[in-house]
Amino acid sequence: MRGGKMAMVRLLACFVLYISLGHIPSSLSVILRTTDKIVWANEFEAIELTCLIESISTNNPRIEWKKIKNGVPSYVYFQSKIAGDLEHRAQLREPANILIFNATRSDTAEYRCEVAAIDDQKDFDEILISLAVRVKPVVPRCSVPDAVTVGTSTELRCLENEGFPAPQYRWYHNNEELPHEPKASPRFTNSSYSINPDTGSLKFQRVKKDDAGEYYCQAKNDAGVAQCPGMVMEVYDVDILGIFLKSFGAVVVFFCVSFTICHTCRRGCFNKKGHENSYNWPPQNNGTDYGDTDEGHFRHKSSFII
Ligand SMILES: *[C@@H]1O[C@H](CO)[C@@H](O)[C@H](O)[C@H]1NC(C)=O
Ligand SMILES: *[C@@H]1O[C@H](CO)[C@@H](O)[C@H](O)[C@H]1NC(C)=O
Repeated sequence: MRGGKMAMVRLLACFVLYISLGHIPSSLSVILRTTDKIVWANEFEAIELTCLIESISTNNPRIEWKKIKNGVPSYVYFQSKIAGDLEHRAQLREPANILIFNATRSDTAEYRCEVAAIDDQKDFDEILISLAVRVKPVVPRCSVPDAVTVGTSTELRCLENEGFPAPQYRWYHNNEELPHEPKASPRFTNSSYSINPDTGSLKFQRVKKDDAGEYYCQAKNDAGVAQCPGMVMEVYDVDILGIFLKSFGAVVVFFCVSFTICHTCRRGCFNKKGHENSYNWPPQNNGTDYGDTDEGHFRHKSSFII
């Protein structure tokens, strides 16, 4: 009699606890767990996404995996078979893990493990895992001007688009790494450069003679590193003779053109006699190439015909 009462009280206590906590006893729930919700893998290596079943009472639960990319879900494990993007590239491992044999960059996505256990009171649970596949950088594209004039500004560029996560860039001058801040090294303390490690830009405010030499850039992320071949940048002194010749050439051409115009004009006046004005202007720029004076690419290439 007493035993029965005690049992009743205990049952009641359990029930009150159950109501107050809003909990279903875990022995009647399917509960999933994972070792990592955010998983990083290297491209072309194996990776396992874990879906551990912490508690379950159903014998043959239904296991499904979905891949969610850009908000669009698709099956990768369905009706006890690997399907979709992972077909022939993965397998299911006890209890509900998925093993990708050879991860590729297109596997970067969210994956959802879903387990339905009909004999459990709480008969469904799911777990979301995000997978990011690291990709090694490829050889970056670098641009280094062949020749710049002392005192001008110039920019060297380096760009790599494959690596994931996005690589960080480093520049080397005559095989020595340029510190991000020139002041950080006595060797480069007189240089006026600045580096943006995120964009790969190496900018010189005012190029100095010492900045001449071979440059290459390196793109690096957690998956690897790649660099472009070295390219030589020459630094010239201001070309005073060149500037003089250019100005002189321009003056000479101006006089030639003026003379030709006057000459033609006078002849035109003689020929006029009742005709319409038919001046025949000579082309004005023939014989002079004023050169390319882009910043940092100053080059002397005047060629004038007198
Ligand atoms: C993974 O796939 C890549 C390209 O599809 C292939 O080159 C590589 O050999 C594979 N690696 C392994 C370990 O199977
Ligand atoms: C930097 O410039 C100063 C002053 O012009 C000079 O004394 C020094 O030797 C230079 N340093 C280097 C590393 O060229």
